[in-house]
Amino acid sequence: MPISSRIKDAMQNASWIRRMFEEGERLKKEVGAENVFDLSIGNPLLEPPEGLRKKMFDLLRNPEPRMHAYMPNAGYPFVRQKVAEFYTKETGIQFAAEHIVMTCGAAGGLNVVLKTLLEPGDEVLIFAPYFPEYLFYVDNHGGKAVVVKTNEDFSLNIVRVEEALSDKTKVVIVNSPNNPTGVLYGHYHMQALAEVLNEHQRKTDKVVYLVNDAAYRKIVYDGRRSTYAFSFYKNSIEVTSHSKDLGLAGERIGHIAVSPQACDVEALINGFTFCNRTLGFVNAPALMQRAVADFQFVSIDVQEYQKRRDLLFEALCEMGYQMVKPEGAFYLFPATPEEDDVAFVRKLQKKRVLVTPGIGFGTPSHFRISYAVPMQVLERAISVFDEVAREYGL
Ligand SMILES: Cc1ncc(COP(=O)(O)O)c(C=O)c1O
Repeated sequence: MPISSRIKDAMQNASWIRRMFEEGERLKKEVGAENVFDLSIGNPLLEPPEGLRKKMFDLLRNPEPRMHAYMPNAGYPFVRQKVAEFYTKETGIQFAAEHIVMTCGAAGGLNVVLKTLLEPGDEVLIFAPYFPEYLFYVDNHGGKAVVVKTNEDFSLNIVRVEEALSDKTKVVIVNSPNNPTGVLYGHYHMQALAEVLNEHQRKTDKVVYLVNDAAYRKIVYDGRRSTYAFSFYKNSIEVTSHSKDLGLAGERIGHIAVSPQACDVEALINGFTFCNRTLGFVNAPALMQRAVADFQFVSIDVQEYQKRRDLLFEALCEMGYQMVKPEGAFYLFPATPEEDDVAFVRKLQKKRVLVTPGIGFGTPSHFRISYAVPMQVLERAISVFDEVAREYGL
């Protein structure tokens, strides 16, 4: 076997999202893509804003010398400056270009952060339901993921956080707005989390970094705003991207922002820059850095996702499914009408609707629906959810 046993094992336990995606692809070949209603993968639906496309054309039509050459591994200083201005304006904390590292998406950024911070065996707290890739990212860099269950409404359970912290805890990852639940962690929970982490740091005399995966930060509904961990906890790091807010998932552009008040901020940035290079990313894509620099305050039309959230949430509630109303991102995470979420998902699959079982997110007896799909697909899927609800007598 050419591949290592570690990777073989990881692939065998591979993320449910991917597995369902592959099964869906097979089904599409069998019955035709137009006859499969795929709500299993979080591929952003909306195209990048028109102004951004124009910016890309302009960059290519009027190339600057060495525009495609290597650059500093942390990214172009002028782009880092623009990103820093965004955080200064949003948080009231003075960020500078030196607090930003441009990355290949949030996925690249999370790997850079974990590679830089973790000693072998260091623990990383993640909250279930979780984004499944966290398990692999932590393992990539010799860490140990410690899963902390959230409350019934998917809010943070601070008592469980306290119990899970140990003198090996180096990183806590929060993800708000959350994939798969759509929940936002508001001021109350962020404040409580910060207090527990501060107390833990005092007791152990060790620094714990709070990493906020904010990949969906700008996709929030009903006029809400996502909180910034920076405002509550000084050892905070935000990792994010423009995959969702500017519809650029395939272009791999994101960044890491470190709180100017964090311990050893200069060492952190130097470490992130080094790992960006040596993990093989080298630097974030040059053209995309230039393209997004002036689009820090822009996003796709969030109303388009909100319309879909409203339609789906109201329809499912009426049918008798149980769920928490999402406040952001583009997912719903209802309870399955039977305990076995895989069996439930297979039942939907037979009716050509693809969703992902909750077990893939560390939370069985639930299923995740991605509503980043065209309205016709959503409407057809809703009629199947209704048919299935009746079969279960909801
Ligand atoms: C919670 C979360 N974090 C990170 C990512 C990675 O996003 P990207 O690397 O495209 O920025 C995703 C992608 O779906 C996600 O859902």
